[in-house]
Amino acid sequence: MAAFTIAAGTGNWFSALALGVTLLKCLLIPTYHSTDFEVHRNWLAITHSLPISQWYYEATSEWTLDYPPFFAWFEYILSHVAKYFDQEMLNVRNLNYSSSRTLLFQRFSVIFMDVLFVYAVHECCKCIDGKKVGKELTEKPKFILSVLLLWNFGLLIVDHIHFQYNGFLFGLMLLSIARLFQPSIFCLWFKPQGPRGFLRCLTLCALSSFMFGWHVHEKAILLAILPMSLLSVQKAGDASIFLILTTTGHYSLFPLLFTAPELPIKILLMLLFTIYSISSLKTLFRKEKPLFNWMETFYLLGLGPLEVCCEFVFPFTSWKVKYPFLPLLLTSVYCAVGITYAWFKLYVSVLIDPPVGKTKKQ
Ligand SMILES: *[C@@H]1O[C@H](CO)[C@@H](O)[C@H](O)[C@H]1NC(C)=O
Repeated sequence: MAAFTIAAGTGNWFSALALGVTLLKCLLIPTYHSTDFEVHRNWLAITHSLPISQWYYEATSEWTLDYPPFFAWFEYILSHVAKYFDQEMLNVRNLNYSSSRTLLFQRFSVIFMDVLFVYAVHECCKCIDGKKVGKELTEKPKFILSVLLLWNFGLLIVDHIHFQYNGFLFGLMLLSIARLFQPSIFCLWFKPQGPRGFLRCLTLCALSSFMFGWHVHEKAILLAILPMSLLSVQKAGDASIFLILTTTGHYSLFPLLFTAPELPIKILLMLLFTIYSISSLKTLFRKEKPLFNWMETFYLLGLGPLEVCCEFVFPFTSWKVKYPFLPLLLTSVYCAVGITYAWFKLYVSVLIDPPVGKTKKQ
């Protein structure tokens, strides 16, 4: 906190936010990791020790290299750093190998690759206009956006607990969005839509593809949540859709972390992020109508009892043996309602509500 105050005082609040979340990621190093940890270890081993002609045929492990070529090259480059940590992780026969040096290397590689994500967030912040500048730093849209993106709950648990490399890939996406907003490179043929209209369409496409099953993984909701963050700090209507989408989407990630030691971590981080996002956006749009109606408030508050039932009551009932799938079923159905609702609202807003500032010129 002291470091934050000093950095904020010198106008360097962005570095403080980035550094703070990086330290949090380091604290998450010893937490549970999924089989994706072994998947990536195996890919490091394959790309490091075999000629390229065998990369896609090697099948000692059940986790064969089944990602597009760019990812294999990425693992190949990483493996040349990995060899200085522990050579044994690069042996294709060492199935399920996990020394403490391997763990450190793999966790740090995710944290390090997030540099691209941090840079992309920095570039996105430049695109947010400062008209609604409050007196307080923490009330500025740029500041709120930085927290919403850098401290995004979903990315934290999927990448830094569950173990995956989504951060730098989302970094590439955000960087592309930022470049479209920056006037110097802004292509002329996008003008009729305006970059904000473009961004809403992108978010809607991402959300639609999630809804209609192009993705098999619940983490794909982040593809809509992250670009939606940019819209949320600019318009009250978008903020309201964002909060419903994000809170529901993040809750739907809970079943990814099912181990007891991670239960308090995920609940605390989720509460922290949710309370921050709701309160900061409420403050930002305090002069406009309330962000939620009674039905939306009721729905979001319902996530609390749902969590209590699924993780604190259900395990002690006799249904645990007979219907072990019930908590997952309830969570999926409850979240599907919220996400469908957010999708519908976004769809309507794209259709009837032209992006601000562009209507008059046309
Ligand atoms: C590796 O771990 C997986 C999952 O924990 C397990 O199913 C598999 O049998 C293990 N393989 C070996 C060779 O230990």
